[in-house]
Amino acid sequence: MTKFQAPKGVSEYFPPRSNHFEYIRNTIIESAKTSGYELMELPVFEDTELFARGVGESTDVVRKEMYTFEDRGGRSITLRPEGTAGVMRATIEHNLDRGQLPVKVFYSGAFFRAERPQAGRYRQFYQVGIEAIGLSDPLIDVEVIAVADRAFRQLGLKNYRLEITSLGDAITRANYLSQLRAYIATLDFDEETKARAEINPLRLFDDKRPEIRSVLATAPILMDYLTPESAADFDAVKNSLEALNINFVVNNRMVRGLDYYTGTAFEFVHEGLGAQSGIGGGGRYDGLMAQLGGASLSGIGFGLGVDRILLACEAEGLSMPEGSELDLFIVPLGTAPAALAIAEELRERGLRVGMSYGDRALKGGMKAADKSGARYSIVLGADELASGEVALKAMKSGESQSVTLSLLANHLIGLTADFGDHS
Ligand code: HAM
Repeated sequence: MTKFQAPKGVSEYFPPRSNHFEYIRNTIIESAKTSGYELMELPVFEDTELFARGVGESTDVVRKEMYTFEDRGGRSITLRPEGTAGVMRATIEHNLDRGQLPVKVFYSGAFFRAERPQAGRYRQFYQVGIEAIGLSDPLIDVEVIAVADRAFRQLGLKNYRLEITSLGDAITRANYLSQLRAYIATLDFDEETKARAEINPLRLFDDKRPEIRSVLATAPILMDYLTPESAADFDAVKNSLEALNINFVVNNRMVRGLDYYTGTAFEFVHEGLGAQSGIGGGGRYDGLMAQLGGASLSGIGFGLGVDRILLACEAEGLSMPEGSELDLFIVPLGTAPAALAIAEELRERGLRVGMSYGDRALKGGMKAADKSGARYSIVLGADELASGEVALKAMKSGESQSVTLSLLANHLIGLTADFGDHS
């Protein structure tokens, strides 16, 4: 029979590497929670129109990367290529925008873009994102950036940099876009490129073709058109990042891949990843909520790419905890039902316990204990059951001590408390 394979270009994780993936995802989520962000759990598919309007018709994401299909009711459905549009939809639909502001949420899950697969670029990938909705204070921009930066530092990452820019307010962009359009009108592009520039001239800066890059090298730069208010906000962001010792470089040619950005925009770039170096990105999107039919509220957030952060941690050789390490492994010798009952009792107390099944001989059972990576093991034969005493063996040192079964849980909790995993 032919073997099934995963669809092309998806990322998937299984032990032991899935432990590292989980650790990274949890570190980011904990950092978000530390700053007061709460879970928002949303569908992975939405009305296609939400992304067309929210993410923008001129973007590569909407033009060629969406997984769009018709459902059984004839509706056009799209697998979410990003998280912000869905968060806006839910915020408007459930009237969160009329409650306490800011709305601060995080999300974590799979996203889908039909890109050409390569190292670090997948068709199904994972993000942890946060969104802060309803505040236009530059300090919240810094809070959002700090959530990501703290997570990266906690993971031990070093070789990354934060790039920031400002896309200004509506007046900035109107002034700038008219200058940019005038400049582009002097250039001779093919029809498709012209059509793209027509919808959003900023998209041309995304173009990888050298001939386009070279003519755009002398194009006007948005940063030169910031209104005094936008410039003051951007200065406040920079000053506050400096005060928090968060290093950054200003990149006045940054182009984010999604159309909704206004004001502060940023990307985290890792040096050890080759072409797909963006480990996260985000920014302010002050017109998005109104554009999707909601109140005219501002917002800012980020999406961090968990797959790429894992690659970055591996590139830096960082050690990551194996989340599944067992506290105890039980080797039953003809006592399997009693051993399972003891295992369950210990598990109720929060201990991680494995055991061998299938009535193995002592040698096979000890091999299984070794392989399990457990910190301690016991052999449970009829004698041990009768006396209520077991020899608790520390697997690393090989040393054993006698412990009564009734005190085994307390004893193990005492021993493992040093590792900080039983609160
Ligand atoms: P984005 O820059 O499109 O922003 O994606 C954020 C991160 O997701 C990227 O920096 C990258 O690490 C990861 N990523 C994107 N595409 C792929 C892929 N094909 N394979 C692997 N990783 C990928 C957003 O999605 C915005 N929603 C972020 C945001 C939230 N802005 C404001 N709020």
